[in-house]
Amino acid sequence: MNQSNSETKNSDHVVIVTGGARGIGNAFAQRLAEDGFHVAIVDTQGANQSAQALQHAGFSAAGYSANVTHASDWDALLKDIVSSGKALHGLVNNAAMFASLDMQSFEQVTREEWMQVMEVNTYGPFLATQKVAPILAANGGGSIVNIASTSPLKGVTGMPHYVCSKGAVIAMTRTLARELGDRGINVNAVAPGFTLSEGIMLNTEHVEKFRDIGKNARAMKRDQLPRDLQGAVSFLMSPDSGFMTGQTLVVDGGAYFV
Ligand SMILES: NC(=O)c1ccc[n+]([C@@H]2O[C@H](COP(=O)([O-])OP(=O)(O)OC[C@H]3O[C@@H](n4cnc5c(N)ncnc54)[C@H](O)[C@@H]3O)[C@@H](O)[C@H]2O)c1
Repeated sequence: MNQSNSETKNSDHVVIVTGGARGIGNAFAQRLAEDGFHVAIVDTQGANQSAQALQHAGFSAAGYSANVTHASDWDALLKDIVSSGKALHGLVNNAAMFASLDMQSFEQVTREEWMQVMEVNTYGPFLATQKVAPILAANGGGSIVNIASTSPLKGVTGMPHYVCSKGAVIAMTRTLARELGDRGINVNAVAPGFTLSEGIMLNTEHVEKFRDIGKNARAMKRDQLPRDLQGAVSFLMSPDSGFMTGQTLVVDGGAYFV
C-alpha cells in the first residue's frame, strides 16, 4: 500500500477531478469531497462555480479554469496546489469529448475530428499523468483513475474516434500502471456504460440511440446515472485499493462481463 493512501484522509489531501464541473465528473467531485478530500475541479467551463457550490455545502474545494491538453495550464494549477501546502493524493482523468459528439459513420469522420477527440481523450490524461506523477511520487505515492468506457469492450457504431480513444485509455492505464508502480502510484480505470449525465441529456440523438439499447442489455434493467459510478472512484482513491493497479472496473449494471 502506498504511503499517501495509508494516511488518514482530510482536506489537506487533494484529489484533482478533470471535467469535474458537470455530469459524471461533478458526481466524482461531490463524492470525493464527502470522503474528506480537498477537491480541485479542473474544467474549461464552470470550474469555479462548481467548486463554490461544494464550498457552500461545507466541503473543501477549488476550481481551475484549464484545458487538460495545455501543459502551461497544468503547470499553473499544480504550482497553486503545491504552494497551498496541501498534499496531492490523486487524479481522476474524467474530462473527455463524448456528450458533444455527433453520431457519424466511420467514413464520415474527418482527420481533424479524429485528432481533436484523440487529443482531449488520450493526450489529456497522458499529459495530466506526466505532470501529476512526479508530485505524487514525491509525496510517497497516490492514485490515478482514468475514466474509460464499455464502448471499446463491446464495439459500438457511430463514434469510431471516441471508441478508439477509450480503448487507448484502457491500454494507457495498463502501461502507466507498470511505469508508476515502483513509485507507489496505482493507476486504474473505470468503464461506465451509457450514463444519463447532464451533457448526454442535452444530446437527444445519443439518448434516442443508446438509452433503451443500453437498458435492455443490462442484467439490471434501469437507466445508469452518474451516482452509480461514485462508489468505484471512491474505492479506487481509498487505501482499500492500494494493491490494485492496471485494472479496469466495469460499472454498467451487468451489460458487459469481463
Ligand atoms: N455519459 C456516458 O454515457 C459515458 C459513458 C462511458 C464513459 N463516459 C465518460 O465519462 C466521462 C464524463 O462523461 P459525461 O457524460 O459527464 O461528459 P460531459 O461532456 O457531460 O462532461 C465532460 C466535462 O469535461 C469537460 N471538458 C471537456 N474537454 C475538456 C478539456 N479539454 N479540458 C478540461 N475539461 C474538459 C467539459 O467541459 C465537461 O464539464 C467522460 O470521460 C466520458 O467519456 C461517459
